Amino acid sequence: MKNLSVLASLLGLAAASSAVNVPGTNLEARQDPDDLLIFVCNDGLDEICTNMCYGAFCAGIGSSLQYDQPDSATKRNRRKAAGCIASGGNRCSTKKGHASGFQCDEYPFASSVPTGGSNTRLNRCVPADQNRKQGGLISAFYRSSYCMGNNGGKCQFNVEFSNAGNIMYCDQQNCDADDDNEVIGPGGTANDGDSADDGTDDDPDAGQKKRTTKKRTGLGKRLPGAPVYRTSSGLELDLPRGAQIGQRAFVVLPRNATLWDEQAQFGNPNRMRALDEDEDEEDEDYEYMLANLELREDTIVEEITPGV
Ligand SMILES: *[C@@H]1O[C@H](CO)[C@@H](O)[C@H](O)[C@H]1NC(C)=O
Repeated sequence: MKNLSVLASLLGLAAASSAVNVPGTNLEARQDPDDLLIFVCNDGLDEICTNMCYGAFCAGIGSSLQYDQPDSATKRNRRKAAGCIASGGNRCSTKKGHASGFQCDEYPFASSVPTGGSNTRLNRCVPADQNRKQGGLISAFYRSSYCMGNNGGKCQFNVEFSNAGNIMYCDQQNCDADDDNEVIGPGGTANDGDSADDGTDDDPDAGQKKRTTKKRTGLGKRLPGAPVYRTSSGLELDLPRGAQIGQRAFVVLPRNATLWDEQAQFGNPNRMRALDEDEDEEDEDYEYMLANLELREDTIVEEITPGV
């Protein structure tokens, strides 16, 4: 938000931004609109969006994150805390009886901390290609001039979800759904060398609390029509929680969607061996995807359709 007023006056939008759009009264108005990293969820990202929305809106983690440039040990500890590292493979592994082709997706990202103070880290088993797409999107965003030049590269942002109308939790509803695939991590840190250290490995869910936090308080139900905004590059995005004119809105889009699907399906072509179960796709080099990903460092320029 710090940059917003500067940005707004630079753009001569000070007057416009003072007439802040107020989304539907039943929606939680964004208190401190930070720069947005927008996931276009219907672009084959439904499962990772489901997980991010659950973490952000149902588990009390919130949508405001900071990329804090963690070293690999820190990221490993976070993956452990999220429940994605377990002896003999995490719960999404075929070694633990899960269907093949899935990976353990964490929220918040192992590369980030939530700025709202929550210590919760959780996981969902998602199709591997979606997890790789998410890795590519985040990786492209972290390399943006905004992120690199912000607070020594430790940029802060809000994850936001457009085109997520059919995606569970993104409408801030159904947080009480009986969803065994949302698992709150055990917390704690990973041991050196790992693995078995907590005795819970035979039953991936044992000792892990599920949905002990339900943070829908005051959010109410989503109104039928989310407001739609136009960004500076001409994208038209529905942002259910509202946005402000002049707010930055980063969107990463594939240049060739077919190629992106292939890249996500097969993973890093330069990797000489398969990932071990405890390794993190987020540590993978996403260079192979980046040339095919276009980062739009947009701003919100217009509200096209108000929330109703
Ligand atoms: C997009 O990628 C696919 C798959 O690699 C390729 O066959 C196709 O020619 C590409 N399309 C364009 C317009 O480059």
